[in-house]
Amino acid sequence: MGRKDSRWLLKRKKDYYYRLAKKLKHRSRAYFKLLQLNEKFNFLKPNNTVLDLGCAPGGWMEAAKEIVGDDGLIIGIDLQKVKPFEDENIIPIQGDFTKERNLKKIREILKSKGRDKFDVVISDASPNISGYWDVDHARSVELVKTALQIATEMLKERGNFVAKVFYGDMVKDLRKLAEKYFDKVYITKPRASRRESAEVYIIAKRFKGKKWEEEDRIEREEKNEEVGELLIKKIKKMRECSNMQ
Ligand SMILES: C[S@@+](CC[C@H](N)C(=O)[O-])C[C@H]1O[C@@H](n2cnc3c(N)ncnc32)[C@H](O)[C@@H]1O
Repeated sequence: MGRKDSRWLLKRKKDYYYRLAKKLKHRSRAYFKLLQLNEKFNFLKPNNTVLDLGCAPGGWMEAAKEIVGDDGLIIGIDLQKVKPFEDENIIPIQGDFTKERNLKKIREILKSKGRDKFDVVISDASPNISGYWDVDHARSVELVKTALQIATEMLKERGNFVAKVFYGDMVKDLRKLAEKYFDKVYITKPRASRRESAEVYIIAKRFKGKKWEEEDRIEREEKNEEVGELLIKKIKKMRECSNMQ
């Protein structure tokens, strides 16, 4: 283990919400973030049907269950395998939410439960961290845009959308995009989010029922990895050029 890794582990052990999550046997410290966000913005309600994009290890699903109760339903998807829940109304599946075939699976599960749309779409998805701040910001914005498009296809009219995004100059345009499809949009940071972390949350309330416009289209089958590699190459080149000047 490198010195940097052990410093990070030590910091994590000292972290208040990390310790609290362990003590209360929650799956992640993110559990508290969702509850704090909902306390302030009230986007989740009893009996809601919820889609969680990027749900592993399942802290947000646990928190959502506490709010929606036994008559609600939570379907989550993640690249990682999620340990099953005892509750029958919390259903995690493994897969990439940017792939159409996985969205089809979600629609089928929803239908098998006698429902056809979600009340709320939440996403705490994080891209693979490259270490290049601008690349990670761009990848995070791309993920949120994809989640936003999925939300416009899967939400009931007046449904809500919540997503994490790594803060940077593209957040302004992301907010404008969300405002096209939702009545009210807020950017916020819950107390349980580490002060030094670059993450903020976009809260979009009351879906207008508007279809996703062609000009906002995102290539779903495009591999984020490839887009990221291209971006890294571009940024390296730009830096080389500016060092030569
Ligand atoms: C910070 S974790 C989520 C924590 C979760 N909200 C909780 O409370 O336990 C971010 C997750 O996003 C997932 N993720 C990133 N891109 C994804 C994608 N395209 N499809 C599915 N999951 C994705 C990662 O695998 C990772 O598990």
